[in-house]
Amino acid sequence: MMREELLRFIAFEGSEGAGKSTQIRRLETRLLSLGEPVLTIREPGSTPLGECLRRLLKESSPELAIAPESELFLFLASRAQVVRQAVQPALAKNSWILSDRFSDSTLAYQGGGRGFSPALLRSLNDIACAGLSPKLTFVLDLSLPEALARIAQRKRESGQGDRIEEETAEFFERVRSAYGDLARLEPERVRLIDASRSVDEVAADIWEIVSCVFGL
Ligand SMILES: Nc1ncnc2c1ncn2[C@@H]1O[C@H](COP(=O)(O)OP(=O)(O)OP(=O)(O)O)[C@@H](O)[C@H]1O
Ligand SMILES: [Mg+2]
Repeated sequence: MMREELLRFIAFEGSEGAGKSTQIRRLETRLLSLGEPVLTIREPGSTPLGECLRRLLKESSPELAIAPESELFLFLASRAQVVRQAVQPALAKNSWILSDRFSDSTLAYQGGGRGFSPALLRSLNDIACAGLSPKLTFVLDLSLPEALARIAQRKRESGQGDRIEEETAEFFERVRSAYGDLARLEPERVRLIDASRSVDEVAADIWEIVSCVFGL
């Protein structure tokens, strides 16, 4: 096991459209420009098994019913695979890992959103993650109307939507509030970031925290 303070593992969390992928690209570019080794992954996905599961989980079709319990295990299966196939080998080489969603998504979506017990989810996450947790998690916090506006904008640009975006407003409010609870519970690790600001402002905030926590 890596020594905790050497774990250069950062997760990005938050609702759909909050700007996770945008900010990961920014941080990745900045670290690469310093000559740092970086592995960027996304959840679900980033392994052959994970990408198959991602397609299943994103698909929105009446023929493909996914029960909440099945959904939980599909996300966990993708995580178990990426931890063993990508994250552990990269950490062993002292690479940075930037993850577009990770274990906190399960706590927010399956816990807050779907109502599974947080204690149960933490145990399941432990199995999936082999006990690994991000050193730092950024929760990009955005109100539902603002997130919906960004998703609509992106849909106009790419024409793509997905299954989870069809959930109710109440579902997303529960997810958002679960993320807030996580930040209060683990304030050192989980940092709530006001994502309503410009891409540059959010990126500057994130960089300040990263350089402080990791001593850059
Ligand atoms: N700070 C920002 N201000 C305005 N628009 C933004 C900002 N950050 C991202 N966007 C835009 O909002 C849309 C969603 O951003 P992005 O894809 O990074 O979100 P995401 O959190 O990765 O969403 P998803 O969970 O659906 O993958 C994109 O069109 C992006 O260009
Ligand atoms: Mg994204």
